[in-house]
Amino acid sequence: MLVSAKEMLKKAKAGKYAVGQFNINNLEWTKAILLTAQEMNSPVILGVSEGAGKYMCGFRTVAAMSAAMIEDLGITVPVALHLDHGSYEGTKACIDAGFSSVMFDGSHYPIEENVAMTTELVGICGQKGISLEAEVGSIGGEEDGVVGAGECADPDECKAIADLGVTMLAAGIGNIHGKYPDNWAGLSFETLEQVKNKVGDMPLVLHGGTGIPEDMIRKAISLGVAKINVNTECQWAFQAATRQYIEDGKDLKGKGFDPRKLLAPGFEAIRKAVKDKILLFGSDRKA
Ligand code: 13P
Repeated sequence: MLVSAKEMLKKAKAGKYAVGQFNINNLEWTKAILLTAQEMNSPVILGVSEGAGKYMCGFRTVAAMSAAMIEDLGITVPVALHLDHGSYEGTKACIDAGFSSVMFDGSHYPIEENVAMTTELVGICGQKGISLEAEVGSIGGEEDGVVGAGECADPDECKAIADLGVTMLAAGIGNIHGKYPDNWAGLSFETLEQVKNKVGDMPLVLHGGTGIPEDMIRKAISLGVAKINVNTECQWAFQAATRQYIEDGKDLKGKGFDPRKLLAPGFEAIRKAVKDKILLFGSDRKA
């Protein structure tokens, strides 16, 4: 059964570890993440961008596949199915489709509009027991055509949004999606500390988990980050392993063309990437 992310993040915040959100793209991705979380006895969040949702036929297909997979694989660790960077319409569609968690990304609206839309969604999600993530200060990089410059969130705006009753808050602290440039200034712990002091017990979310040095991840967790999003790193792992399989000519040998064989190295590579992150975030044995 899919569960809200509320309890797992409350526990993570109190226990000073973070739950990983790993974005999914298809059946193999979902299966790899679920099996690894189960093996590690870790709670986990399956992230779905609107683009990935469309790619997988639609949000209802994603919700049905995820829920059925949890049953068929005998997954017992807590799993949340979460919309990543949702539009207002997309957020409502996922609530209707059976997602257990959603992110409404109103960071590109003026704060008053972000507040108005988030307020409405707090009401709807509260009634249905769905966790709601909000964002203040856009995350840099490009995701599904939304480009942000990696700005730092205004701590007062964070408090305004947190006070609406959202479950968790993504605050921009200089993090970006995808590869970090060589001249990246690093995370702004000063901003993170200010935000933490304003929002109290609210679990904070760190986007752009790919490529952040391990010591920065640990420090961010110590300052209240309880959810960390990882997407690109699993894609790179899948790509490198698949490339190796083809370059080694394994698809040309015997039944190496069988998609179940061809996709297997990439699948195992995702499992390893997820396992490493779960260990780094400290969510193993916390289910
Ligand atoms: P990365 O692709 O940089 O890991 O970021 C993932 C993310 O933040 C999804 O919201």
